[in-house]
Amino acid sequence: MPLKELRGLTSIVTGAAKRIGREIALELGSEGVNVVIHYSGSENDAKSLKAELEAKGVKAWTLQADFSRGGYDGFIERALGLAGKADILVNNASVFPRNTLDEITFEGLVANIQINAWAPFVLSRDFAGLVKKGKIINMLDSRLTGYDWTHVEYILSKHVFAELTKMTAVQYAPDITVNGVNPGLILPPPGKDQSYLEKLNSTVPLKKHGNPQEIAAAILYLLKTEFLTGEVINVDGGRHIMEYGRGPHPD
Ligand SMILES: NC(=O)c1ccc[n+]([C@@H]2O[C@H](COP(=O)([O-])OP(=O)(O)OC[C@H]3O[C@@H](n4cnc5c(N)ncnc54)[C@H](OP(=O)(O)O)[C@@H]3O)[C@@H](O)[C@H]2O)c1
Repeated sequence: MPLKELRGLTSIVTGAAKRIGREIALELGSEGVNVVIHYSGSENDAKSLKAELEAKGVKAWTLQADFSRGGYDGFIERALGLAGKADILVNNASVFPRNTLDEITFEGLVANIQINAWAPFVLSRDFAGLVKKGKIINMLDSRLTGYDWTHVEYILSKHVFAELTKMTAVQYAPDITVNGVNPGLILPPPGKDQSYLEKLNSTVPLKKHGNPQEIAAAILYLLKTEFLTGEVINVDGGRHIMEYGRGPHPD
């Protein structure tokens, strides 16, 4: 059976102005999908993305919301007010602060959960309630199978989001599918250069890092298939199976 045609659908992509979110929006545009571009602080990048998408012949709108200040409440209604309809929600926006187990605080953990898990959950719940039929994609992390020693508040919040991915997949079926992507090493954190990734390439079975196009390709597959929900694809060069490479346990 051929994969579903996406042309003419409308998507909402959070954190779309830059980096991976921007690539997701552009690939959706190339497939003929209209895009509501969510941004928080990157207004100029959001506007330039809108122009790039329109040049591809699709419709695009920009929509600002700060999820650390409750901007998720009413967000889907605002998006529907702009675009008139929505078929796809990509929960991509995230924060990635550096902290170890010794450094984390309750307030920090709550702040990470608010943006990385609660905001996408509220968006998903409202989307499922308002659009009735559609597809949700959640951006998780391939280190959910291991331990991110230096981003502890972040990885805990992504664990919450991963559980919510399964719960919402069951709750909103059959009309709404909820799937996820676990990116591995894709882009260095903002402010770091490529050498950050090069140093970590040795931790990946395929001995290289990926790129935003690989993530967008996995998302397009999840959007085009009709028989997946609650599924998460690791796009990480095999990094999530590194534990198998450690050799036998010394027992
Ligand atoms: N980069 C990687 O290699 C990698 C690896 C594993 C997982 N991931 C996941 O993949 C997704 C995309 O990664 P990325 O590195 O491209 O993300 P990113 O650059 O760290 O963040 C994406 C966007 O999130 C938005 N955002 C941050 N704080 C916000 C807030 N308070 N309210 C609303 N939006 C806010 C920002 O929008 P503005 O710029 O408009 O403020 C930002 O551009 C994330 O979910 C990330 O966790 C990425």
